[in-house]
Amino acid sequence: MILYFSGTGNSKWIASQLAKKLNDKSYDICTIDDEIDLTQEKQIGFVFPVYAWNVPEVMLKYVKKMKKQDVFTFAICTCGADCGKALKHLSKLYHLDSSYSVVMPNNYLIASKIEDLSVITKKIADAKNEINTIASEITARKKVYRVHEGSLASLKSSIINWGFNKFARSTKPFHVNKQLCNQCGKCASMCPSKTIELIDGYPMWHDQCYMCLRCFNHCPKNAIQYGKNTENKKRYRLDEYL
Ligand SMILES: Cc1cc2nc3c(=O)[nH]c(=O)nc-3n(C[C@H](O)[C@H](O)[C@H](O)COP(=O)(O)O)c2cc1C
Ligand code: SF4
Ligand code: SF4
Repeated sequence: MILYFSGTGNSKWIASQLAKKLNDKSYDICTIDDEIDLTQEKQIGFVFPVYAWNVPEVMLKYVKKMKKQDVFTFAICTCGADCGKALKHLSKLYHLDSSYSVVMPNNYLIASKIEDLSVITKKIADAKNEINTIASEITARKKVYRVHEGSLASLKSSIINWGFNKFARSTKPFHVNKQLCNQCGKCASMCPSKTIELIDGYPMWHDQCYMCLRCFNHCPKNAIQYGKNTENKKRYRLDEYL
C-alpha cells in the first residue's frame, strides 16, 4: 500500500507509477476518511512533496496517527532540487527501511518562474528511470538511503522550515482575477484542505492552507494570483509534459 499526498500531481504520479510496478495500490491520504486497515499489506510506502526542506504538515499528522506495522516500509520525497533532512525527520515518527528523494519539476511558482522545458523533460525522464530502480530495490527488500539532502540540510529543515510554517503559509495574498475567472468552482472542489469557499462563484480563501499550490497551478483560467507578481507567470501542470 502506497499512501501519498500530492499538491500538483508529481507525488501522485510517482506513487501510481511505483504501485503499478510493485503490483500494489496507491491512496491519497486526503481522501481517506476512516483509518485504513494495513494489517494485510506486504509493504507500506509514503510519497509526498518536500515543503521547505521538510515533510508537509498534513503528511506528518497522518503518519503520527497511524498504527505501526511490522512490514517493509519506505518513503519517497519529491522535490524541485533537494529535501534536506525531511526523510530523517519522518523516520523518527515511523520506522523506514528505505528513503528516497526524486527530483521533479518545481511547482513553487509563487516565488520563482517555471523551469525551462528542457529542464522539466529531463527531470521527468530521470524520474522514470529512478522509479524503475526504486521498484527493483523495494522488491529485493534492499535497505537504501538515497536522498538529495542539499547543502545546509539541518539548518534548512529546522529553522527555515519553521519560518515557512509560521510566515509563508498565509492565504491573505491569494486573490482571484475576476476578469479571467469563469466561476467553474474547480478551485474549491480540488482544494485538499477545503479552504476555498465560493462567494458568488468566485473563490475566497479561509486560513487553513497546506500551501500545496494546486489551486494556483491548476485553475483552468490561470485566474488565481498570489501577491503582486504572479499575473503573467506560466503555471505548472504535469499532464502537459507526460
Ligand atoms: C510550499 C512549497 C515548498 C517547497 N519547498 C521545496 C524545497 O524545500 N525543496 C525543493 O527542492 N522543492 C520544494 N518545493 C517543490 C516541490 O517539492 C516539488 O515541485 C514537488 O515535486 C511537488 O510535488 P506535488 O506535485 O506532488 O505537490 C516546494 C513546493 C511548495 C509548493
Ligand atoms: S478554478 Fe479558476 S476559473 Fe474556476 S472558479 Fe476557481 S478561480 Fe475561477
Ligand atoms: S487553498 Fe490552494 S494552496 Fe491552499 S491547500 Fe487549497 S489548493 Fe492548496
